[in-house]
Amino acid sequence: MPEGWLICAYLSEIRVMNKKEVREISNIKNKRVLVVCDFNISLKDGRIANDTRITEALPTINFLLKNHCRVILVSHLGRPKGRDLRFSLKPVADRLERLAGVKVELINDFLQEHNRQKIKFMPENSLILLENIRFYPEEKANDPHFAQSLSQLADIFINDAFGASHRVHASIVGISRFLPGFAGILLSKEINMLDGALKRPKRPLIIFIGGAKTPEKISVIEKLLDIADTIALGGAIANTFLAAWGYGMGLSLVDYEMVEMARVVFWQATRKHCALLLPTEVVISNSSNLKDKIKIVGYDQVPPNVAIFDIGSGTNRHYRELINTAGTIIWNGPMGYYENPLFQKGTNRLLKDIADSKAFKIIGGGDTLTCLNNKKILAKIDHVSTGGSAMLEFMKNGTLPGIEVLQNK
Ligand code: 3PG
Repeated sequence: MPEGWLICAYLSEIRVMNKKEVREISNIKNKRVLVVCDFNISLKDGRIANDTRITEALPTINFLLKNHCRVILVSHLGRPKGRDLRFSLKPVADRLERLAGVKVELINDFLQEHNRQKIKFMPENSLILLENIRFYPEEKANDPHFAQSLSQLADIFINDAFGASHRVHASIVGISRFLPGFAGILLSKEINMLDGALKRPKRPLIIFIGGAKTPEKISVIEKLLDIADTIALGGAIANTFLAAWGYGMGLSLVDYEMVEMARVVFWQATRKHCALLLPTEVVISNSSNLKDKIKIVGYDQVPPNVAIFDIGSGTNRHYRELINTAGTIIWNGPMGYYENPLFQKGTNRLLKDIADSKAFKIIGGGDTLTCLNNKKILAKIDHVSTGGSAMLEFMKNGTLPGIEVLQNK
């Protein structure tokens, strides 16, 4: 990390976040604390694919245990429709038990009286994890009675779920009507890192955006034009922008309803002197599984019967030159269809180039976290955000609903 940045990050830590953090609560000892986490991890055949979101919650959990608190953890996993045990937090409870070195009891329904009694009489220094909070439809509906039932389990609540803080749900926002809420250690780190990089970046500030979810990302890009020197795209969102230039995208994922908006964003980019870059070379195939049909072509040579699945090495070369000039880099979302190993090269090359650069670097995105498992490379990144859409929304608005409801200093 460049020395100048260290000072900047330090200043941002003491100045930026106006929310009280868990370590600043004077009488925390022996409290009953409800901690909202984002344990929405990817599972592959019932096994955890990447446990970053669990390890990143440990500083807050360990701090509370050291202070003899009774810790009640709350999280969602996936988007279940009702109580569906394929979305159970059991694998998270098991991993957490191993990582924290403390028994973790999974409570299957905290609304049942016998379970509420169990939580009431839990001993000091102990951990309880409530089963997937989205098993209850009241969570997403931000139902006040449900939020109140949750609040009755504790004296205070801590929001350490940066990745879910853009959701106006009962455990994130509704609960604040009934309990004082404070920021967890992870949440405050996320805020300070992102805020520092966006408000006082070492220039040039280069932002890479990939992945799908075009409507959500396009409005973020529009906002970022005001602060970034360059925005470079990859993944499905880049296809929509290439289509806006009038190039045929074949069978590629394109959000045609967003093409007009993409044109407006191009026009704004020129007025705001922000360079908006698109892939110059792309990887195409007529099926996502047929290796022998993969080809690398220019962005303007995509035949009608194939689709783009990755950026080509030429695009990586172009992006590498850019990376080597950067003072700050922020990256959210993969450059291609990363779930298929055939189309991971563009994203992996970008990761390596960013990791090797001397810039201050932040990467994030739910999908990005799942695909980036290379711990050695990740260690070179200054901040790996646990937020996907939350990170983007924070970049756009400078805050999130779940942050706004916390107590000020
Ligand atoms: C995420 O993975 O981005 C967060 O956990 C939020 O999940 P959601 O999009 O299902 O609300």
